[in-house]
Amino acid sequence: MTGFKVTPWEVSGNIDYDRLVQQFGVEKLNDAMLERIKKHTSDLHFMLRRRVFFAHRDMKFLLDEYEKGNKFFLYTGRAPSGSVHLGHLMPWIFTKWLQDTFNVELWFQFPDEEKFLFKQGMKFEDTQHWLNENMLDVIALGFDPKKTHFLIDTRDAGLMYKEACKVSKRITFSMVKSTFGLGNDSNTGAIFYTAMQAVPAFLPSVLAKKEIPCLIPHAVDQDPHFRLTRDILPKLGHYKPASIQCVFLPPLSGVEGKMSASSASEQAIFTTDTPEMVKKKVNKYAFSGGQSTIEEHRKKGGNPDVDVSYQYLRMLFEPDDKKLQQIYDDYKSGKMLTGELKAILIEKVNAFLKKHQAERVKAKSKIEKFLIKR
Ligand code: TRP
Repeated sequence: MTGFKVTPWEVSGNIDYDRLVQQFGVEKLNDAMLERIKKHTSDLHFMLRRRVFFAHRDMKFLLDEYEKGNKFFLYTGRAPSGSVHLGHLMPWIFTKWLQDTFNVELWFQFPDEEKFLFKQGMKFEDTQHWLNENMLDVIALGFDPKKTHFLIDTRDAGLMYKEACKVSKRITFSMVKSTFGLGNDSNTGAIFYTAMQAVPAFLPSVLAKKEIPCLIPHAVDQDPHFRLTRDILPKLGHYKPASIQCVFLPPLSGVEGKMSASSASEQAIFTTDTPEMVKKKVNKYAFSGGQSTIEEHRKKGGNPDVDVSYQYLRMLFEPDDKKLQQIYDDYKSGKMLTGELKAILIEKVNAFLKKHQAERVKAKSKIEKFLIKR
């Protein structure tokens, strides 16, 4: 398949990220920009070094302001609709690094109406259940409760709705149609929704009564929302938000599309999976770049570039460049077998999940600390 599709509601096909950069009009993160970021962080996160975060909007503006002493805040989010999987964690782990390194506030939005409005059969009771579950995953990653604020659309509507109206007054139906492909048959909640996703990009400025720059780390499929947001915010007297954007973690089956909770559940690894489930999923479903027999593999070697286990190590689980390179070389030369590569991944994932699941249990008593006082 050569075609691909990337929208906030659908990601499919073999994604050509260079073409996507052109289509969306975002900027690639180049060496000069990474060097500039590095001046402030001393070390670059491996997701930057490896271009897992590969594109941005307005990072120059953000760093100009930062260097003048005008600190930014971070904004990201999650529409509760199902279990959190490894693909969701990628931008959040990076966001946590940004929060720690720059010592900045984070506003984390849970638009608990989004999937109710967009998904057939999704009830509000369902989104409330997933809201609770998903908050545990975010807290489990270790965000600092003193600097992290959860904005829950229905709970915090009193704070958000007026601002959303100001945004939506500037958005016509035809803008929403062309940006998101919505049509005359779309429900009016879905048409309004993008205004709610715009709000956290400037609400902290409204509350502080002064303009604070905003940086949104997110997977690239959310860019259409923030393109609209960026068009409108200056008209309301706010800065355009900057953004930094990552690729998708592939599903276990291979390079097409993204890890998703709604496709077959064996294509994703969830944060609540047991060690046995992880082992089984990786061994059975993770697409392999290996040869069909051991003999052939020893002779011709494997292809780490299409091997999903290797890609998960590169994108998420092996921060050490030297170790990663060793795995790459050994697999490519045929010295390392597919089973051995999978075993490395399984161990890494299970070690991560063991800690994550313990933190998730502790998170239950911490939710209150992240909610906005009212
Ligand atoms: N629309 C996102 C989702 O489907 C949720 C979200 C809201 C978000 N605000 C965001 C994601 C900001 C990234 C950045 O999950």
